Amino acid sequence: MTSYEGKVALITGGSKGIGGAVAKKLATLGAKVVLVDIEQKQGEALAEELGGIYIDCDVRDFGQMERAFNRTIDAYGQIDIAHLNAGVSTGFGLGDDFDVEHFKKVMEINFDGVVYGMHLALRAMRAKQGGDIIATASMAGIVPVPMDAIYCANKHAVVGLVRSVGNLFGPSDNIRVNALCPSFADTDIIKDVKPFLQEAHFPILSVDEVVETFMQILSSNESGKCWFVVPGRESQPFEFRNAPGPRNDLQ
Ligand SMILES: NC(=O)c1ccc[n+]([C@@H]2O[C@H](COP(=O)([O-])OP(=O)(O)OC[C@H]3O[C@@H](n4cnc5c(N)ncnc54)[C@H](O)[C@@H]3O)[C@@H](O)[C@H]2O)c1
Repeated sequence: MTSYEGKVALITGGSKGIGGAVAKKLATLGAKVVLVDIEQKQGEALAEELGGIYIDCDVRDFGQMERAFNRTIDAYGQIDIAHLNAGVSTGFGLGDDFDVEHFKKVMEINFDGVVYGMHLALRAMRAKQGGDIIATASMAGIVPVPMDAIYCANKHAVVGLVRSVGNLFGPSDNIRVNALCPSFADTDIIKDVKPFLQEAHFPILSVDEVVETFMQILSSNESGKCWFVVPGRESQPFEFRNAPGPRNDLQ
C-alpha cells in the first residue's frame, strides 16, 4: 500500500460513516486527517483516536467552510486530499411530502457544500500545484431514482460539477477531481430503508468496499471521472455515452 506520510486530508462528514472510514484508512497510512462535521462528539473522539483535528463546521455556510480550510492550512501547512463527503438522505419527491424549507436544506448540504469545498480546495491546491479532490456523489447521481427525486437531482448536480471541473485539469496539472458513486452502503444514512433492502435481498455494500474504491481513485491519474461502487462488480469510471453534437453539414 502507498504511504500517505506527510499528506494532509480534509474530510467533510468525517465524523462517521464513509468519511470516518476514509479518515481511518488514510491515518493508518500516515496522513494527517482533519474531520469537518457537525457531529461533534463522534468527530472529536475519532480525531483524537487518529491523532488528527476535528472542526465543527456546517458545510452549508461558506464562511465556516473557509475557516475550516484556513485552520487546516494553519495547522498542517497544506491540503493534499479533500474528500467532500458530507451528505444527508432526503427521501421525498414532488408529491404531498414536498416541503420548500426541507428542499433548500438538503440541496445546500448535498450540493452547495460540495461547491464551497471544491472552490476552497482548488484554491489551496493551485497554490501548492497539486492535490486530489474526491466528492462523494452516489449511484443516484448516475441513474434515475423515482422514489427520491431530490436526492437524485442533487447527486446528479455533484456528478455534473465533477465532470466539468475535473476536465479542466490534465496530467501535467497534478490536480485531479473525481466522484465516488456508491450504491447502498451500510451506514446510518440508510437506516430507514435498510429493512426494505434486506427484505428485497438487495445487496448492501460494506463501508470497507467504498473505502477501497476511494483508495483506487486516489492512486489513479484520472480526473473528471465518476467511479461506481456496486456489489459484486469491480469499481471503475462510469462510461457516459457521448451526447450528440450539431450535424457537421449544418454550417
Ligand atoms: N451510505 C450509502 O448508502 C450512500 C450511498 C451513496 C452515497 N452516499 C453518500 O455518502 C456520503 C456520506 O454518507 P454516509 O453514508 O457515510 O452517511 P452518514 O450519515 O454516516 O455520514 C454523513 C456525515 O455527514 C455529516 N453531515 C451532515 N450534514 C452536515 C452538514 N450540514 N455539515 C457538515 N457535516 C454534515 C453527518 O454529521 C455525518 O457525519 C453522503 O454524501 C451520502 O449521500 C451514501
